Amino acid sequence: MAGRAQLQDGADTAATHAGRLSDRDFSRICTFIHERTGIRLTHSKRLRIETGLRRRASVLRLSGAEEYCRMVFDEGGLAEEVAHLIHLATTNKTDFFRERAHFDFLETRILPEILATRPAGRIHRLKMWSAAASNGAEAYTAAMVLAAAAARGPRFDFAVLGTDISAEMVADATRAVYPASWIEPVPPALRERYFMRSQAGASEPLVRIVPELRRHVRFARMNLVGASYPVDRDVDVILVRNVLIYFDPPTQKAVVQRLAGHLRPGGHLILGHTEAAVGSALGLRQCATGIFRIG
Ligand SMILES: C[S@@+](CC[C@H](N)C(=O)[O-])C[C@H]1O[C@@H](n2cnc3c(N)ncnc32)[C@H](O)[C@@H]1O
Repeated sequence: MAGRAQLQDGADTAATHAGRLSDRDFSRICTFIHERTGIRLTHSKRLRIETGLRRRASVLRLSGAEEYCRMVFDEGGLAEEVAHLIHLATTNKTDFFRERAHFDFLETRILPEILATRPAGRIHRLKMWSAAASNGAEAYTAAMVLAAAAARGPRFDFAVLGTDISAEMVADATRAVYPASWIEPVPPALRERYFMRSQAGASEPLVRIVPELRRHVRFARMNLVGASYPVDRDVDVILVRNVLIYFDPPTQKAVVQRLAGHLRPGGHLILGHTEAAVGSALGLRQCATGIFRIG
């Protein structure tokens, strides 16, 4: 009996080990994610990564994190799993009208300045880029502010590009469907105009951005840590908020400099409130917290 109990203990331990994420595998994941995305994973993320890997392993019918990491790093499975690993490593928290002061500044300062300097008689096409767009809430917030201003006049056209490294987030953003509770921060007039309610019957009330607004907004997968960005170089406003915090200082600096190269002279770069120091350290001219005017 004692021998059998011992055997069972041994089997349990082996099973637990197969499910667990070893120090070596966590370190391999950290290195891969840092090289690929610029994100520095800290130990506080370890449990979340482990839980995600175990879930993924179970979908693939593997015994756990250990077998998953072996398949990915030793047996050539990485290419198939890159998107899952990156999604697991990213933090996608976002909101409509997050850091509202930035959108107030867009409406009351940036937009009037742009329109005042455009040649009369021509309809200006304003270009905006949400460079770590998550599920699109930021890009659609910008689009709502611009659409409402264009409806009040003077007339102008606009296009918003949203990019993110996570293919899953790009798909969500393109779908533009959100739980109804998400739109609480949206001012009531904009809520009425730019969201459709889901039909009765859905388990959770959902809303969707109306097609008239969606047609101004496009999403694509793009890595900010890539050597260059396939984006126009005369963008009026770039939002890159709450993503630099996950990068190390040299990566933060390189990303901000590359993004600044995509603005037209006098364009604005908007960083998250807690990231403003990155722009200041580069000597950029700050006009409000996190908002920099380039050139
Ligand atoms: C915390 S969300 C911020 C969303 C939005 N900008 C905001 O402030 O609400 C950070 C987003 O950055 C994306 N991200 C992380 N690393 C990236 C990279 N190297 N290139 C592009 N996007 C990245 C993540 O996938 C995530 O959706």
